[in-house]
Amino acid sequence: WSLTATKEDGVLTIGGVAMTDLARDHGTPAYVLDEADFRSRARAFREAFADYDVYYAGKAFLCSSVVGWVAEEGLSIDVCSDGELTVALRAGFDPARIGYHGNNKTYAELRRALEAGVGRVIVDSVDEIARLERLAAEGLTARVMVRVTAGVEAHTHEYIATAHEDQKFGFSITGGDAMEAVRRLQAAAGIELLGLHSHIGSQIFDTSGFEVAARRVLALHARISEELGVDLPELDLGGGFGIAYTTQDDPSEPAQLATEMTKIVEHECRALDVAVPRLSIEPGRAIVGPSTCTLYEVGTVKEVALDGGARRTYVSVDGGMSDNIRTALYDADYSCTLASRGSDAPPVLGRVVGKHCEAGDIVVKDEFVPGDIAAGDLLAVPGTGAYCRSMASNYNHALRPPVIAVRDGVARTVVRRETVEDLLSTDVGVESNS
Ligand code: LLP
Repeated sequence: WSLTATKEDGVLTIGGVAMTDLARDHGTPAYVLDEADFRSRARAFREAFADYDVYYAGKAFLCSSVVGWVAEEGLSIDVCSDGELTVALRAGFDPARIGYHGNNKTYAELRRALEAGVGRVIVDSVDEIARLERLAAEGLTARVMVRVTAGVEAHTHEYIATAHEDQKFGFSITGGDAMEAVRRLQAAAGIELLGLHSHIGSQIFDTSGFEVAARRVLALHARISEELGVDLPELDLGGGFGIAYTTQDDPSEPAQLATEMTKIVEHECRALDVAVPRLSIEPGRAIVGPSTCTLYEVGTVKEVALDGGARRTYVSVDGGMSDNIRTALYDADYSCTLASRGSDAPPVLGRVVGKHCEAGDIVVKDEFVPGDIAAGDLLAVPGTGAYCRSMASNYNHALRPPVIAVRDGVARTVVRRETVEDLLSTDVGVESNS
């Protein structure tokens, strides 16, 4: 739960706002974002990684208000699309503090990013190098990092692991592609090579993956120093720090991560006899994930018999896989709590499901819920700040929920609820045959 969440007489209160009031005034489903929690996690990373540049990974969740908070807390921003870049720039974020990612940036997107003056472009392919060379020849300057594949198996879901060889991101270190990319970028006029970049995956708890990656990336860094005579000034170690979705997860605090990562890098640099480059990281989930819960209203409750005689209560809420695809996509674990009242009813095994047309539309797989849970109750699912609103869809023409920021007893809409008109605005209407 976010930092300011409390329960009074069974009513969940976040940022001083009772969820019953929030549901009445803003409707459900809604993402409730605790601004103080977001800011305090952003600050914790910035303070713990004081010698690093900390890029908030906007893909986890981005809107204009969040851009403002990130700026005020002194972090930089990592974007990975033209859309994210536009949000950051429109909110007035300093382009020099934006890092631009993506495995398939078009010539037009790169041009726009360079014209806007982004601080660094993280290069991911030979095609992209050719596009940058062309842009440099046209007079634009590019400051770049080379994303490399460290060849480690991160202990996380296959779809969010990114440092093994057989996936789309980065240049292989072992295959020599990374060195070749470095040589070509180093030789290109108008392109300034800042350093190497490695991101091993997401929702990672064990720092051993970072350690192996850092060792391999720094070995390349040292080889570049030796063979090309250049000490690359920077090194980015990516994001991916895990958060607790349930009580089973035990994430590290930023201070502990900083101590461990710095120790690993300094040790390797000493062993390789190279200067420690300026380091950066890109946490997304660990900053925004715990700040938000999704508030739903229960619509129907159905008890089903399981093999062996046990029973399960299916609690259907007014959202589902369109506002949180993570359970269906990654088999992610979530929990929930009754947010609108207390209950002394004995708990029953429940499953929180959405209102979409498929059986896999599950929000919380297994959770004990009060036996008297009923239509009209409010349910809150914590830890939905990262990759929920940002991956939300209009499946079944669902209207994507608003994001309501709460702070000091005040709730304010930072992203409004979609309307049917929003959806219809892209549908050109009935074709006329006349
Ligand atoms: N840097 C790079 C280059 C990345 O690709 C990512 C995430 C991050 C930083 C931030 O990772 P974080 O600290 O948020 O874990 N949709 C998936 C996660 C995909 C992550 C994509 N890249 C999920 O819902 O778990």
